[in-house]
Parts: sequence; C-alpha cells; structure tokens
Amino acid sequence: MNILGIETSCDETAAAIVNEKGEILSSLVLSQLEEHKAFGGVVPEIAARAHIDHLHKLIKAAMDDADLHFDELDGVAATSGPGLIGGVMIGMVAGKAIAASQNIPFIAVNHLEGHALTPRLTDKIEFPYLLLLVSGGHTQLLVAEGVGQYKLWGTTLDDAAGECFDKSAKLMGLPYPGGPELQKIARECKDPAKALTRFPLPTPMKGRKELDFSFSGLKTAVRLSVEKLPEGDLNRKDVADLAYAFQSTMAEIIADRAARAIEKFKEAYTPKEPTLVVSGGVAANEAIRAKLEELCAKHDMRAYAPPIELCGDNAAMIAWAGLERLQKGLSDNLDFKARPRWPLDETA
Ligand code: KG4
Ligand code: ZN
Repeated sequence: MNILGIETSCDETAAAIVNEKGEILSSLVLSQLEEHKAFGGVVPEIAARAHIDHLHKLIKAAMDDADLHFDELDGVAATSGPGLIGGVMIGMVAGKAIAASQNIPFIAVNHLEGHALTPRLTDKIEFPYLLLLVSGGHTQLLVAEGVGQYKLWGTTLDDAAGECFDKSAKLMGLPYPGGPELQKIARECKDPAKALTRFPLPTPMKGRKELDFSFSGLKTAVRLSVEKLPEGDLNRKDVADLAYAFQSTMAEIIADRAARAIEKFKEAYTPKEPTLVVSGGVAANEAIRAKLEELCAKHDMRAYAPPIELCGDNAAMIAWAGLERLQKGLSDNLDFKARPRWPLDETA
C-alpha cells in the first residue's frame, strides 16, 4: 500500500510517500525560512503563496524519488488542520484533486496526529504510550490509546514551548527560527554553574499537580535579564550564558511536568513496555532530550524520540497517519472542510 502525504500547515511545504511496512519511499521538505526571515516569524499570506509556488513540483519530485506513477498510489493523505488556514487549504485541495483523479481514498489528517503516530512509523511503538508534543504551536501531554484515540492531560496556558524558544532567542538578538540558534550558542557557555547563578530564571507550574504548562513568565524573565545587560550590542559570552540558563530552565520545566505525567500514566495503564514519546520540533533540543532520558531511566520508562528529521514538520508523518487511518477503514469525503482548530482529544 503506497500513500502520498502532503503537509502545508505552517512554513514547510512537504510531500512524501510511505508504505504499510513503514518504509519511507521518499520524503521532501522545503522550508520557507528565507521567505520569513526578514519578518522574524511566519507570515501566513507569504506562507500560502510559497505553498502554491512549490507544492506541485514537490509532489512530482516525491513521486519520481519513489519511482512511482500516480496510478500506483492507494490513497492520498493531506494535513487538513490545525494550522494556518491558507496553507492547509492549498495542501488539502491538491490532495483531494489527486485522490479524485485516481479514484482512490482521500484521508484528512490532523497534523498533531501526524506527530503523535510518528513513533509507530519509525519504531513500531505499541499503544498506549505517553506523548509529549512540543512544537512551535503546541505543548501537550497526551496518552495515545489508539489511532484517533487520545486523552489530553495537559496543555500550555499561554505560549507554546517552541514559541517561547523563538521569542526568547529574538530577545537575545538571535536570528529566526530561534530554537536551533539558541541551542547552538548555549554550547559556547564556558561555566554552566555560573551561568545558572548569573541568570536565575523562573520555572512556572513546577511541582503543580495538574499537568499544564506556562512559559510566558520565563519569556518575561529573559526580557528583564537582557535589559539588565550593558547597553549596546549584546556580548556573545553573555548571550551564551543566558541561552544556557534558558535552555536548562526549559528542560527542567518540561521534565517536571513529564515526571508528574509518568506517575499518572503508570497508575492508569499497564503496557508491556511503558514509553514516553517526545515529538515536535522542540524534541530536537539536546538539553531537553538528555533531561527526559535521565528522567525515564529513573522511572523505569522507555524514552523515545523520533529521528530529528521526523521531529519537525514533514509529510512522511502525514502519509503514515493517513495509512494507519485507512487500515482502520477510515477515510474522508472530498467535501471535508479544513479545520484551523482541531484538538486531538475532542472531549477535552
Ligand atoms: O514541529 P515544528 O517543526 O513546527 C510546528 O508544528 O510548530 O516545530 C518548530 C519549533 C520552532 O519553534 C523551533 O524553534 C523549534 O521547534 N525547534 C527547536 C529546536 N529545533 C527546532 N527548539 C529548541 N531546540 C532545537 N534544537
Ligand atoms: Zn508540527
């Protein structure tokens, strides 16, 4: 079974083909970084235009890479929400057109389910598993019980983790997108212990029983720290120290919430191999990965993060989510409407 996946919900145009063995026959991601850099963030209108310019070429290239013709596809999956509505509609309409022309099923995929099911594409992880989804737009703790079955246990009350990385990096004078840049400069910190005493940052929600996150206080503390630095151009060493302190604080907040979720998961579920999956763009962060691995080792829990290129937005995850849905007999009509908001747990 060959499924074409299309992803256009934010600033990546992506197309991929995946089969039922979990083989990624092709996966192309075209990032619009250059288009948005000058604005320091994603501009929805520019994103939509860029998707229109590139998507058809990318789909063609993905088909060529996989050495397939359209009549060898068994279904087309396209991100149909949540995300920037212009982009979502472009990918969805392209997917529907191919499905209609080949008379094959169209699967409307929830972008978040793409991230949520990635560990089953890459490592056949079995349900149920605890899922920490940390991206530019979302920060959620969920239990994945099955395809289309998720329990939302916690979410952010304000900014998403990636958004906090990006905004804090901007305050430190780092280019967009801030997350990876901040990680890079944090590596230059010479004296971590000193950096932490020099820049004591708050850990909102730490120790709280409920599983929600909050990051806006941390972002404000970064702003105040930057304002206290000598005026004029920021010194690279100061930024390295502050970036280090920020990244460790972020890891500490996330690990604290995850620790609480692990306790709750172990009370409620008894899978053969209890696993914490961390996915989404921020899952690429080395400090956060290390801290979560340490936490899981302590709790006798498996820690799993997909390979970096499948943590960020891509279309292989959309094709896979479509494939898992199709295998369960789920597909969608061609009048499916794009959903700018689309929670994974509709009851939450
Ligand atoms: O999942 P993703 O590619 O797109 C969304 O659906 O949001 O996540 C992008 C986010 C951005 O905020 C980016 O700065 C962040 O992930 N990110 C990182 C790292 N790599 C990407 N944040 C921290 N450290 C990284 N290494
Ligand atoms: Zn994403």
